[in-house]
Amino acid sequence: MTALRPLIAGNWKMNGLGSTIAQAYEIAMALGATPTRARVAICAPATLVDRLARAVEGSDVIIGGQDIHPDPSGPFTGDISAEMMADASARMVIVGHSDRRSAYGETDALVARKALAALRGGLEPIICVGETRAEREAGAALDVVRRQVRGSVPSGLAGSDFAVAYEPRWAIGSGRTPTLDQIEEVHRAIRDEMTRAFGERGLGVPILYGGSVQPSNATEILKGREIDGALVGRASLKAESLLLIARATG
Ligand code: PGA
Repeated sequence: MTALRPLIAGNWKMNGLGSTIAQAYEIAMALGATPTRARVAICAPATLVDRLARAVEGSDVIIGGQDIHPDPSGPFTGDISAEMMADASARMVIVGHSDRRSAYGETDALVARKALAALRGGLEPIICVGETRAEREAGAALDVVRRQVRGSVPSGLAGSDFAVAYEPRWAIGSGRTPTLDQIEEVHRAIRDEMTRAFGERGLGVPILYGGSVQPSNATEILKGREIDGALVGRASLKAESLLLIARATG
């Protein structure tokens, strides 16, 4: 179990309408009645960020976004900047999720710019990395993840709050997860990269695991060394399951 304060972040992806706000409210109420050791965040579609933030106001629930453009403003039709996200009351943002790396060809360099943009806008970025199934089968998972971390986590983040999420692409939405040993091995490599880049402060960077985290496997995963929380997709859409995962942090 991690010595850091764990972070359990839900990633609603392209799911959620006004009616879904009740789920966040339920989480806020439940955490108010029985707080958890973990920080709990919901990274929501941009259309819901402002309304969610108002629905959970005064609670410990953190509302975040799922992506930002690296620039503060400009002719980027359809995009949203960190400043806009923060203006909508987001406090966190996911950058470099594999959905975006694979569907939109986001590179490590772009992800690094987005991470710095988050900082500029006052948001805490969750920077995602993770290997494909073919890369794992070729024995290249550690090399791939180390390379992604070096390219996507800029040194300019030194001294600010951010998290890294290890999300093996083959585990996302598949119901399959790596073994605890495999997760710990990658998290150790990420921790090593963090201390190389940020010295002592690298020990304080939360390293989250993501990919088919469910109430049924959360306790097993979250007890692992260097596993400081989880990025949760499908299971975060139901208040009850996100709460169960948050409570699995002890
Ligand atoms: P999943 O998604 O929990 O549904 O596998 C995780 C993620 O994509 O962040």
